[in-house]
Amino acid sequence: VNQGRSQTDNATNGRKGLVQYYDQLANHYDESRFATSYGRYLDAQERRVLRRWLSPFQGGTILDLACGTGRLLDLATHGIDASESMIHLARHKHPHKQLRCIEAGRITELPTSFDAIFCLHFFMHLRPAQIADVISITLSRLRPGGVLIFDVPSSQRRNLTGFRPGGWHAGTALNCPDVRALAGHRWLFKAMHGVLFFPIHRFPEKIRPFVRPLDDLLGASALARISSYVLYCLERRT
Ligand SMILES: C[S@@+](CC[C@H](N)C(=O)[O-])C[C@H]1O[C@@H](n2cnc3c(N)ncnc32)[C@H](O)[C@@H]1O
Repeated sequence: VNQGRSQTDNATNGRKGLVQYYDQLANHYDESRFATSYGRYLDAQERRVLRRWLSPFQGGTILDLACGTGRLLDLATHGIDASESMIHLARHKHPHKQLRCIEAGRITELPTSFDAIFCLHFFMHLRPAQIADVISITLSRLRPGGVLIFDVPSSQRRNLTGFRPGGWHAGTALNCPDVRALAGHRWLFKAMHGVLFFPIHRFPEKIRPFVRPLDDLLGASALARISSYVLYCLERRT
């Protein structure tokens, strides 16, 4: 029992630590993560995939889960995030979106059900069992036929490169069979797409925009699974 309790305490402390980290980072998040040439490259790649996968749901309800400062909220109608500071900035940027400061586990309290839910740069912070919990919770808020889109660092890529980040920050990496196993049988596996196939941080800034179309193509090929991050699209079975 004690071991069970200490695991629960660790998970709660881990969650609080993660939210505190983003509370403190909020004012610098956009500038440090996505205003750089690397950040713009990744943002453009992710948007391209999101736009395509969300296109059947235009005019519907779309939730950006862990929306942060609202980087991708132009593609959603609703957003939630556990950090007050991050969502404060999101509200400022997107005053007409429906935004709530709640934990992912509390989306069952939202009065809306969604045609699509997307969740970027969040699962990398969670342990596999926590990812399975979040995936399972989203199922209850999605309409039948609705989709869940998320990204996870590729474990196959990390095996190839030997890159092993320490701690919780981007500590989790998965492969496609892991994702299928975590999601379980209530989902239809619709699509996957890789981003950052190239180690773009090693390329001179000037050539990065010219490399991106090839990176996009490789992300749609069988090599997707060894891109740095893989986006997945799961459909709720009816
Ligand atoms: C790397 S940011 C990603 C933000 C945004 N999705 C993006 O791609 O720019 C991770 C976000 O997860 C949020 N977060 C952390 N734990 C959370 C939880 N338990 N429930 C909801 N959001 C959480 C953080 O506050 C932070 O805004």
